[in-house]
Parts: sequence; C-alpha cells; structure tokens
Amino acid sequence: MSSTERAPALRSAEWYSGDDRNAYIHRAWMRRGAPGDAFTGRPQIAIANTASDLTPCNRHLTEVAASVRDGVHAAGGTPLELPVVSLGETLVRPTAMLWRNMAAMATEEMLRANPIDGVVLLGGCDKTIPSLLMAAASVDLPAVVVPGGPMLTGTFRGKPLGCGTDVWRLSEEVRAGTLSADDFTRSESSMIRSRGHCNTMGTASTMALVAEALGTVVPGVAGTPAPDSRLLESAHLTGRLAVEMVAADRRPSTFLTRASFHNAIVALAAVGGSTNAVVHLLAIAGRVGVELTLDDVDRIGSRVPMLVDVAPAGRFLMEDLHRAGGLRAVLREVRDLLDPAALTVIGTPLVDGLDDATIWDPEVVRTRDDPVVAEGGIAVLRGSLAPDGAVVKPAAASPHLLRHRGRAVVFDSIEDFDARVDDPDLDVDENSVLVLRGCGPRGYPGMPEVANLPLPPKLLARGVRDMVRVCDGRMSGTAYGTAVLHVAPEAAAGGPLGLVRTGDVIVLDVPARRLDLDVPAGELATRRPDPATEAAFANPRRGWERLYVDHVRQADTGADLDFLVGSSGSDVGRDSH
Ligand code: FES
Repeated sequence: MSSTERAPALRSAEWYSGDDRNAYIHRAWMRRGAPGDAFTGRPQIAIANTASDLTPCNRHLTEVAASVRDGVHAAGGTPLELPVVSLGETLVRPTAMLWRNMAAMATEEMLRANPIDGVVLLGGCDKTIPSLLMAAASVDLPAVVVPGGPMLTGTFRGKPLGCGTDVWRLSEEVRAGTLSADDFTRSESSMIRSRGHCNTMGTASTMALVAEALGTVVPGVAGTPAPDSRLLESAHLTGRLAVEMVAADRRPSTFLTRASFHNAIVALAAVGGSTNAVVHLLAIAGRVGVELTLDDVDRIGSRVPMLVDVAPAGRFLMEDLHRAGGLRAVLREVRDLLDPAALTVIGTPLVDGLDDATIWDPEVVRTRDDPVVAEGGIAVLRGSLAPDGAVVKPAAASPHLLRHRGRAVVFDSIEDFDARVDDPDLDVDENSVLVLRGCGPRGYPGMPEVANLPLPPKLLARGVRDMVRVCDGRMSGTAYGTAVLHVAPEAAAGGPLGLVRTGDVIVLDVPARRLDLDVPAGELATRRPDPATEAAFANPRRGWERLYVDHVRQADTGADLDFLVGSSGSDVGRDSH
C-alpha cells in the first residue's frame, strides 16, 4: 500500500503523502529514527506547550506533555511537542495582557503552517489558556485543553495563604502598620507551596473552569491540582481523545457555539470567577463568530447564584474546591440554568452525566438553597462615564459602596498615583472615588491589572479598607474591592474618563447598572483632555507595541486586534519548496 492510499483524509497528508520531492523532504527530515509510517496514516497531534522557566505556574507542563504524548501514541497518533509563546503573569512587562494577542497569533500561525491534524493545548497561568483558545478557534483544527491545575494550599503561621489575594492583604497591613515588613518578607517562601498556578479563584483558575464549561476540556478535569497524579492520567486520556477528535473531525467550530458561551457565563457566575474572564470570553467568541456582548454577560450571569466559597470572595482555596466535588458539582446545582444543547470535546452535551456529580463538602460548594451570594455574576454598568460599558464584581465589593456618590480624585497614570498616594496632604477621604486612567488597552498599552488601587495610608490608618475605584484597566482576579473596571471607551480612545477632573462628582449605582459623571453634558462637551493626561498615554515607536496600539479594540469587545477577529481556518495554499 502506498503512502498516498494510507492517509487520504488527514490534513498532514498534504505534506507527507506521495512520492514526489516535497513529500520526501517533509518525511526525511522528520523521521530521525521513527518508522516510515509515523508521518503517514497517523494523526499528527501537536502538543502546544506553554511550559517555561519564566512562567513558573506552567513549568510542570513538560511532565504533563509527556503524559499527553503517551496517550497520543496509545491511540495510534504521532505526538509533536510545539513550544508556544508563554506568558508569566508575575514577570512580564508592561503587562502579560499586551502579549495575549501576540501569543494567540503566533500559536494560530504555527498550527496552520505545520502538518498538524489536531492539537492538545497546555496552559495554566492567566493569559495562556485564553491565548491558546483564541488560536485554536481561529485555525479551527480539532483542539482540546488540559489545564495545568492550581497549586496546593500553602500556610504561614498556621493559616492558609491564598496566592495573590493574601499578597494584597498582607501588603496593605504593612502599609497600615499592622504587620512588620520582616514578617511580610517571611511569608514569601510559604506563598507558593507546589507546582501549579494561583490557588485562589483568580484568572487562571477561572479560565480553566470556564474552558471546561465552554466544552473545551474533558469534563471533570479542570481544577485538578497540578501535583495530583490524576492530572497526568487525564493528560494521557486527553492525548487519546485528540486522536479520536481528528477521526471525528470535531473542530472548535462544531462545539464552540452560543450555547457554550451561555454555559461559560453561568459557570463564571456560579464559581465567582475573575472579571478578566469577560474580556477573554468576548475575544474567544469573536474568533468563532459568536455574537457575544457585555450585556449577555450581565443578563445571563446576574441571575446565577454564586456557590463556590473560594478566595478572593470566599474562605477556601482551589484544592478545597477539587475535594468538594469541583466544577461538575457546581454545575449540577445550576443545571436548570445551563443550555443543554452545548457540546464538549468528547462529543456529548456538557450537562450529560451531571446527575453523578456530588458535593462532598457543602461549606466549599454550597447548595442552591444556601448560596454564598444569591445573585452572583459580573455587573455591566453604563452611563455618561462609560458609554460602552464597564464591569464590577459585586461579590468582591463592599455592599455599602454599591450605591455611592463621591468626589473624584484623579490620577493620569499609575506612576502619578504612586507618586502622590502616600502624600499626607492628598485631598482624599473615604467617600472619595479614586480615578485612574491611561490604563486601557491602548493607553498603557495592554490594559494592566492596576485597578485595585491601594488605599491612601492616612485612610488605612483610620480603618478604611475599601473605596470606590474607577479605571480603564483591569484588576487581578485574586484581588477584591469596589473597583469599577474596563471602562470603555478608555481615556486614550477619547472616552469621557479622560475628561474627569479632581472634584467632579461620580455616581455609582450598581443595582441600576449606572456609572455617571455628575457634570452637565454641555460643560463636558467643552472639555478637552489635559496635556498631562494625553502625555501619559503610550505612543510606542515600533514593534508589537506599535501594531497593538494601532489595532487593539476596546475592552467591551474583548481587546483583540481588529485584524485577528474571526477565523482563517487551517488551509495554506502554497508550499515552501
Ligand atoms: Fe500565574 Fe497567578 S501568577 S496564575
């Protein structure tokens, strides 16, 4: 049997099949000891791996990739590890979000450019799963995610430490004078107990769970702690599944539907997930042509009870969620709110098998009758200060601030804020609204996680622990507070946030979904941004930053680049030789 007859249906056969010079070149350079049939007649499964020493949350994915590799082999496929751009949330400057679209674009292009039939996506740290999903959606090859999993719970002086969340809390205590700098430093080695990503319901945990609710992860796998041997078993089985998905031609476009995004939003609300998931879901939806809007996020999510008592809004950590039954137990409780039509990577609906899910610890995963918050979700605000929308997570906010009227104290940049916030003469009190601008996709650039501004020390010393903050940037999913985020349009795109002056009154009304600047429209129409405000906006000269600033869309549509929205599929018309 000739190689041409053995692999007619596989995309990779366009490279490897046949007896001509190009097929010879493609096969010969790849063989390196592999048998001749390794590249013909067998699905070629890429393992898109974001393991990197500079992405510590994902460093263990090399071991996970080995299990995927075994699974691909076991099912008759050929595994091919493909290192892809990796983004470490804690290190990458000026913000990992600046590079999310670049990582997505590079992964998409490498999957398309190579003889790949299907792909297993290995991610963990915040931007890695979103960028992988955006890439997979645009290239539309059979794809399945293995989330790297959260780390185990670390403790300091007998108390659990939540990654990120407790860094914010402890550093505020130092600033308030209730914790010594030495004790703060001592906690450092306890913060990261094991391999894995942040153990709070930050963006990494949220995106793993949301990816499963979207149908892109084998049901029951997301949230498995990184050191848990069951993660490796799941990785092996996912490798086998990828081969099956190729045979079934199960592409993202067949299961990433409006129904899947509906379920992802329900899951996001039920687990009390990060506001960052909103931007990522909008961007992923844009890649598959699903018309998803900010208003969908509010409409679908706001009637969903928040059932997971995990930090930053709750008491427990991700390891606890896993032992308590995980996402499947949560989804069983909100089953009536899920769309039963949404399919998953295994080819069956997400809701199948939910009857077998069990809550093993009702303190961690609450029942429908005993929610953490009766109506969770992420509220979308509009008004004269955010004509295209802004978001706030009510469960992470102080209830007494959800309706608030206060005087703006305006900062043009995070550097401006850092330079003035500790000044004892700063004209601010607990009723003030801290406004930070120049932190949107275009203005920073990249929309950093700076919106959970630390409070002025003189207010901390008086026991104030929360204030209303308004920003065109994002907030870490591990943070908490009454922070209004993702204000669109951002100041650098001509949004009214750029016109606010210190002393203006801002009116927040979350129940009414309003965010307004109490300045007469006529006066606002005459204002122009201050030169100092405009000077703070980014104006990169070259490279990715220039491309990004010229093409990034606003947060309300997912902050993708305008020319990356949509799908190009996997076809490549020309060869290299
Ligand atoms: Fe990687 Fe938190 S820093 S998940």
